[in-house]
Amino acid sequence: MHTMTSRLGLSVLKRANPIANSRLTKASFSSTARTFDGARGRETGPLPPYGPVGVAKALEAPPDAPAKPTLLTNEFSLADRVALVSGGNRGLGLEMALALIEAGARAVYCVDLPRQPGEEWTKVRDYAARLEGLPSEGRLEYMSADVRDQEAVWKLGETIGNREGRVDACVAAAGVLKSHTDCLTYPAKQFQEVMDVNVNGVLFTAQAAGQQMARFGNGGSIILVASMSGSITNKDHAWVSYNTSKSAVLQMARSMACELGPKRIRVNTLSPGHIYTNMTAAYLDTQPHLLDKWASLNPLGRIGRPDELRGVVAWLASDASTFCTGSDILVSGGHHAW
Ligand SMILES: NC(=O)c1ccc[n+]([C@@H]2O[C@H](COP(=O)([O-])OP(=O)(O)OC[C@H]3O[C@@H](n4cnc5c(N)ncnc54)[C@H](O)[C@@H]3O)[C@@H](O)[C@H]2O)c1
Repeated sequence: MHTMTSRLGLSVLKRANPIANSRLTKASFSSTARTFDGARGRETGPLPPYGPVGVAKALEAPPDAPAKPTLLTNEFSLADRVALVSGGNRGLGLEMALALIEAGARAVYCVDLPRQPGEEWTKVRDYAARLEGLPSEGRLEYMSADVRDQEAVWKLGETIGNREGRVDACVAAAGVLKSHTDCLTYPAKQFQEVMDVNVNGVLFTAQAAGQQMARFGNGGSIILVASMSGSITNKDHAWVSYNTSKSAVLQMARSMACELGPKRIRVNTLSPGHIYTNMTAAYLDTQPHLLDKWASLNPLGRIGRPDELRGVVAWLASDASTFCTGSDILVSGGHHAW
């Protein structure tokens, strides 16, 4: 079946593009995705600066030349990249900021409400500065801003762009969750407060980074932190504002991904399940029975740790995910699976 599809694909390509014929005929058709050069680069995108990887690299390599793996050193590497992380003073934002540094980023700007960063953030910054073997500086920076203030957030993006000469990745992690409130009498003011941070603030953050990505023309990756609550309802929790806001973020990412694809700016959502942070501690520390309940709601039988988002954020921010946009990546212990 696969061979038939490949052969069919080959003949269609040959007909459509005569320039390609000699090369296609020479290279016996394989199941491997190929990057075409020259005029046909537009079909699979240009090769990254470090050239072909994977099977394409293996097939091109002279038989006696030494070979080195590229997956972690090239595709996953954020060497020299610059990132902006909202909500980066603590919790999932801070965890993901450090992950970007460990993946090689030159500088990661954490944006959050307090004028000065917290003790945890300062400790993490100092730890990042001591990390050995990073491909670039690995600098964690802090900037105070309210993501609800569009002008301030745009300006902050511009400051980062002016300072660093590029912005490559953005994680919009700032968010709020309120206490249980009956949906039939949900107060307008409180509903608006959640929307202002979780929807407007996420948009303004993505805009701030996206404007700089467009300005420097290197493409980029915008990761909007949504939640599994954007596509399921948390059992027995009266969180209509939060759930609605996270659903909006899912559609925001798809919509922005479609507009920004031609600029090579990718936009995806990362949707965590239950993870113990200050946000969830407001429930878990006051109603300890919830721990067992939440753990029982996924097949792994436990809640998650913030560090379990390190891999996915590094993947989404890096060249390892260059064909991924407009997607929602669920990291929920399988909460959706039953
Ligand atoms: N913890 C979970 O189980 C979980 C699950 C799914 C999604 N999320 C989402 O992950 C994100 C991070 O949450 P967390 O669990 O780390 O919670 P957290 O409360 O520890 O972190 C949220 C951060 O956002 C900042 N913030 C809030 N309003 C802001 C504003 N107006 N301007 C700038 N910063 C602001 C807070 O100061 C805080 O540092 C949120 O968007 C949350 O909805 C969390």
